[in-house]
Amino acid sequence: MLILCLQKDGKVYAVKLSPDNLSGIEMIDRDHELLMSICNELFETQNRLGAHDQIEALLKRLLDHLEQHFKSEEDFHRGAGYHKAQSHQVEHRDLLIKTRSLMGKHKNGILSFGDLYKFIALEVVKEHLEIQDKDFHTFIKK
Ligand SMILES: [Fe+2]
Ligand SMILES: [Fe+2]
Repeated sequence: MLILCLQKDGKVYAVKLSPDNLSGIEMIDRDHELLMSICNELFETQNRLGAHDQIEALLKRLLDHLEQHFKSEEDFHRGAGYHKAQSHQVEHRDLLIKTRSLMGKHKNGILSFGDLYKFIALEVVKEHLEIQDKDFHTFIKK
């Protein structure tokens, strides 16, 4: 079971990805698992003293992985004849634009790590996986 920890209102709680969020497609599930594992690493690193460079490296790794994963997923959607391939691609593009923008704000000291992490964990990982990606998984399983 994949667990993503998230800090909210000073509290730590866990977000679980239930088994029914698995696509059954090895490439997609492996990518999602890696995405969550980078998030968990970020979460664990955030309070470590002197971890600034490590956090920046992890954020870059996360962005690189997102770019690669979104592209692979879009190729897969087109190959499978998914009728929402185009709108899913737009959603990916919007998530990447917002992620890059918020990472830039964090780097410039305008946005806290907590707020950046909240966006990544909730909107990029949890909501996108549980709603948009899951729609494709339902389509492919039919
Ligand atoms: Fe997606
Ligand atoms: Fe995905």
